[in-house]
Amino acid sequence: MNDQPLHNFPDGRPEEEQPKWRQDFPIDVEADEYGARRDFTKFMVLTSLAFVCGQIWIGLHSLFRARSTDEKQIAKVSDMAVGQTISFNYPTERDSCILIRQSADSFLAYSNQCTHLMCPVRPDLEHNRLHCPCHEGYFEADTGRPLAGPPRRPLPKIHLRIADGIIYATAVELRTS
Ligand code: FES
Repeated sequence: MNDQPLHNFPDGRPEEEQPKWRQDFPIDVEADEYGARRDFTKFMVLTSLAFVCGQIWIGLHSLFRARSTDEKQIAKVSDMAVGQTISFNYPTERDSCILIRQSADSFLAYSNQCTHLMCPVRPDLEHNRLHCPCHEGYFEADTGRPLAGPPRRPLPKIHLRIADGIIYATAVELRTS
C-alpha cells in the first residue's frame, strides 16, 4: 500500500489538519513549482532558439547583399554635372543609394541609409560630407567613413562600373571600419 500523501502542503502538515479551504482546493506545492520551473526552462529555450534563428537570418541576409553581383544601370555620365548627386535603388528597390559625381572622371556611390538607425543621409558636398539629420551624424563624402555623431560604421559602398558613358552599380560592399 502506498502511504505517500496525495498532496504536499506548504506547512508540511497532513491533509486532515489543513484548513477547510485548503482541503477543498488543495495545491501540490512541489508539483506546482516543478511545473513553473519546467515552463520557465521551456520559455528560455524557445527564446534562445528564436534569437539564434534571428542572428542566422541577419547573417545570411548580409552575406547575400555583400555578394550581390547583379549589375544595374543607374545614370548616364552626360546627365550628371560635377558636384551633382542623384538617388537610385540598389540592389533591390527597397535599398536607396546616392551617386556623387566628384570630378569629371570620379564617381562615388553609397547606401544612403545611416549606419546608426537607418535614416536617409543627405549630401553636403560643400563640406565634403554626407549629413544624417536624425541625430546629427556626418560621413566623409570621399570615403563614406563616419566623421561625427552617433554612427560608428561607414556607409556601405556601392561599386560602380562605367562603360560607353553609362554608370552601372555592380555590388554592395558592407564595411565594418
Ligand atoms: S540615424 Fe543617423 S545619426 Fe542617428
